[in-house]
Amino acid sequence: MLSIDQLLERNRRWANGQIEKDPTFFATLAEEHEPQICWIGCSDGRVSPENLIPMPAGTFFVHRNIGNVFAVGDLNCLAVLQYAVEELRVPRIIVCGHYRCGGIRAAMTRQSTKPVDLWTDHIRQLARLHDEELHALPDETQRLQRMTELNVASQVRNICRTAIIQETWKRGQPLAISGFVYDVSDGLLRSVTPDIDSATRWKEWDG
Ligand code: CO
Repeated sequence: MLSIDQLLERNRRWANGQIEKDPTFFATLAEEHEPQICWIGCSDGRVSPENLIPMPAGTFFVHRNIGNVFAVGDLNCLAVLQYAVEELRVPRIIVCGHYRCGGIRAAMTRQSTKPVDLWTDHIRQLARLHDEELHALPDETQRLQRMTELNVASQVRNICRTAIIQETWKRGQPLAISGFVYDVSDGLLRSVTPDIDSATRWKEWDG
């Protein structure tokens, strides 16, 4: 484990390095926050959006939780979405799941009243809905992978269905929502939903 002094030293080295590359880096960044993407991802340490898609600093407005769930009754999720869309006016929302996700595994393999298992109940219930499809798959790895994809699509649906998003489209504010799955074993993102940029496209996809 690194000590506090070692962590602060690493931070100083990073800040100095940024200034060496671009003396105006912090001055520019401090002036405004204009993120281009609202990212709903998993808390897993291997899936930070800044590491997966090189973009200028400040691009991502990030919400992460176990299993990249957008729970429609969760005040934290709703506040992030509302702030991203109404205040920051981000033009794009991405839900990103990932293979080998501990949250998906927990939802598929156990059940208890511990907080992690209560949270992943959102995914557990979804797995029950897709029980037939999942059990037709030949092994557990494929079931977990498929569940990761189904979970992302379901969270994209949850977001599209909120009054926040419906009203945003109604007033003509540009906003596209889509889902990715990241494969931690090859570093690649895959698109698992259409790019949904209007209420019409959402209805075509979600029925
Ligand atoms: Co995860």
